[in-house]
Parts: sequence; structure tokens; C-alpha cells
Amino acid sequence: MTSDVRIFAPAKVNLILRVLDRRTDGYHNLWSLMQTVALEDELHIHVQSDATGVHLQCDDPTLPTDGRNLIARAAGVVLERAKLAVGLDIRIVKRIPVSAGLGGGSSDAAATIVGLNRLLALGWSASEMAHIGQVLGSDVPFFFFAPTARVRARGEDVAPVRLVGERWIVLVNPGFPVETRWAYNRLSATRNGMTALSQGIAALSGKPQVTWEEILPLMENDFEAALAPTHHVLEKMKRGLLSRGAEAALLSGSGSTVFGVFPYEESAIRVRDEMKRQHGWWVSVAKAGSSSLSPHETVPLNSLQVG
Ligand code: C5P
Repeated sequence: MTSDVRIFAPAKVNLILRVLDRRTDGYHNLWSLMQTVALEDELHIHVQSDATGVHLQCDDPTLPTDGRNLIARAAGVVLERAKLAVGLDIRIVKRIPVSAGLGGGSSDAAATIVGLNRLLALGWSASEMAHIGQVLGSDVPFFFFAPTARVRARGEDVAPVRLVGERWIVLVNPGFPVETRWAYNRLSATRNGMTALSQGIAALSGKPQVTWEEILPLMENDFEAALAPTHHVLEKMKRGLLSRGAEAALLSGSGSTVFGVFPYEESAIRVRDEMKRQHGWWVSVAKAGSSSLSPHETVPLNSLQVG
């Protein structure tokens, strides 16, 4: 058995995010089309069979590395389920902005489960891992069915979708976080009831395959209207992307990142450079959907055992 794994955890954007009714458990039912992008955190997991405890190291000093970290919680849930007591050293290289609507924490948690499933030879399926992951956060189950999936209920009803075509995503972040729970509260306080799903979105429900051309006119996110009165810069970022040729631009998740969809990499890079220079925002280009949670085993140089 190998004792090390390196795994990349991609960011996500919500191409569609409709927040529906509030449930009795306090969460909301959702209808979302989620898509990974090739902006990735990197996790290195090392198992020590003769030790116990989870030890985390992160290159971003602002993130907690104790039991509050979603990676530590994911590791704890996996070991408990597997009834195993081993030591884990986990090193994280953080590239996805935090509390930015890009699912970074959720993707890290999903990557931890995938990595440990491989390292500890647990044999869990994607559905089993998603079931385990859903207690950690509503966005976690999606990552086991990436790159594209239709997500409903609280986030646990996930159906993979094939999105045909290539696009480049320009991600723009203003440099401040938006707390998800706060955003949901704003949404409840600011809207007058819930609008039904558009016909176009409802029609997507049963489709296993869609094209970018079909999705672009349907892109919407209920958090845009909820955050507009308090966060004017989000509208400015969106206008900046649209005026520079984005086919569509939208808030991702509950913010604070806004993204634009571009048909060519060169134009996406030009827009990134312009927006960075003019506004000083954090801006990044990532290809849509070119990433998934696949573990890369790293075999120690002094070992001939591969497995
Ligand atoms: O599941 P997660 O920890 O990401 O959720 C953070 C907060 O977002 C929840 O406490 C809840 O207030 C809100 N939420 C919701 N409905 C969802 C997902 C999240 O109301 N489907």
C-alpha cells in the first residue's frame, strides 16, 4: 500500500443558482447547475500507520489548521466511518480564494475523502463518498460528480451532466469575503416570496447533455439581487466583464466572486490583465471543467512497492 497521495481540488462556479423554498431544517431547496474550473488547491496526504491524529499544514496563515478546518473534519469523518486509527499529515497549497463562492473549502473536503478512499483502500463509490461528504457542507457532494452536474434539494441530489463545448472563465474577486449564512439571511429578508423556475431551466432537469449555447441565456443567480443593495462593486465587476466581451457574467454562489464566460483563451487573458491593472482586483483565468478529483500517488523514492 502506498502511504502518500497528491490530489488537486478544483474550484466551482454556479452557472445557474436558484434558491427555492426554506425547509423545516432551516436550509433552502436549491436548483443549481455547477461546473468545476481549472483553478485548484493542492493537497498532499501522508498516512502513518504507527501513529494517530490529524496534523494539518497550510501555506495560507489566515486559515485555521485545527478541528475547525473542513479538511480536518473530513479526515475525522472518514476515519470514524472506516473504524481506523492512523496518523495523517496533510499539507495544503491554497489557490482558491476563501469565502468567495468558489467552493474551495468544500472541494478540499471532497478531495480529502477521495484521497483517503484511495490511500486506505476503502473501496467507496462516488455516491457513498457524497453521502459521507454531505454532513460537511451542502456543496461537497457535487465534487464527486464533477465536472458538471445539476444539483437540487439542499445540495445532496446530484446528477452529472455532459456540457458540450469549451469555454474559459474569468474569475473576479473584490478582495473581501461574503459569509454564506449571512447571504442566505439577506436573501430571505430582501425578497417578496419565491419565483418559480423558468421554463428553460425546468426543461434542463431531465437532460443528460447540454451545450454552452443552451446554458448561456439561462444563467442566473438569486443572490445577485439580494447582495446588490449592500455590495455595489459586484455589479461593477459584472458590467466590466460584459463590456469586455463576456458571453455572460454572473455572481458565483453567495459571492463574492463574479465570473465571465469567454469563448477564447486569448480574450479571457486580455480581459484578466486589463481588469487587474485598472482595478487592482484579484482576477484569474481558468478553463471550464478541465479538472476533477483524481488522486496522484507519489511513491517514496526508496520504495519499490507500488500499489
Ligand atoms: O451547508 P453549508 O455549511 O455550506 O451552509 C452554510 C449556510 O448556508 C447554512 O447554515 C444555511 O444558512 C445556508 N444554506 C441554506 N440552504 C442550502 C445551503 C446552505 O440555507 N441549501
